[in-house]
Amino acid sequence: MKVKKAVIPAAGLGTRMLPATKTVPKEMLPLVDKPVLQYIIEEAVDSGIEDILIVTNRAKTAMDDYFDYYPELEHRLWRSGKAEQARELRSVADMANFFYVRQRETKGLGHAIARARRFVGDEPFAVLLGDDIMMSETPVLRQLMDAAERYDCSCVGGQYVSDEAIGAYSSTKIVPLKGRVYEVLDINEKPSPEEKLSNFAVMGRYVLTPDIFDILDATPPGRNGEIQLTDGLASLCRQKRMVAVDYDARRYDTGNLRGFLEATVDFALRREDIGPWFRELIADRAGR
Ligand code: G1P
Repeated sequence: MKVKKAVIPAAGLGTRMLPATKTVPKEMLPLVDKPVLQYIIEEAVDSGIEDILIVTNRAKTAMDDYFDYYPELEHRLWRSGKAEQARELRSVADMANFFYVRQRETKGLGHAIARARRFVGDEPFAVLLGDDIMMSETPVLRQLMDAAERYDCSCVGGQYVSDEAIGAYSSTKIVPLKGRVYEVLDINEKPSPEEKLSNFAVMGRYVLTPDIFDILDATPPGRNGEIQLTDGLASLCRQKRMVAVDYDARRYDTGNLRGFLEATVDFALRREDIGPWFRELIADRAGR
């Protein structure tokens, strides 16, 4: 199995980050000085992905503009001696082949993924959720692709979370296979404490076979009245083998304010140019 295509569902309304997200897509909020979405795309490209479909909506055209050329701006930068910046802008647009499709109605993650059917065709594909930003040595998607290729099947990525946290994610019934890889026997979305299958939560990264599309078409609305990807995954793992990777990464949920601020601080501290200054600034402020 070779995975060359990725789907990024980015049609959500961003209600946890209002008021900023009233007019700026949450995926375009800057984490230090790059939009959140760029980190996701860099992870995909660093993992070997070539074609990327962004599932968007009518209020989020800033995303397709960002991954396009901007000749007037580039020209201005060249003329004022900022060649490096001009090249950087172009390299962002050249990182991958970008495709877009709109989710015309907000009917859930499973419904958004179903919009990717024509793009995906008959190949395995990756899904990266736009809120989940990873800090890791090996790109998280690469960790999943290695397992998917090795076991020749679908793969979900996640981590163990606390008893209090599991109700915010999907919970899995898993058995160990090898190292950080498990076999998935069952999965459910945002379980109550009684419904919980384990504390292993699927978070933000998937490699799926195209079998998921027929399944999603037949999946009725679940939690919150939405078509849930997780319900589709529950059917898929009963029909065909599915593995889970306990990925090696620090994960940030940038879709809520605390996660967003935490990611901002950690990514700024890691920067060679501003990191040392920022560390001193925080120490100074914390000492007050
Ligand atoms: C979504 C998925 C859920 C997953 C979570 C984190 O939920 O539905 O299964 O665990 O992302 O990746 P959301 O955070 O959009 O409510």
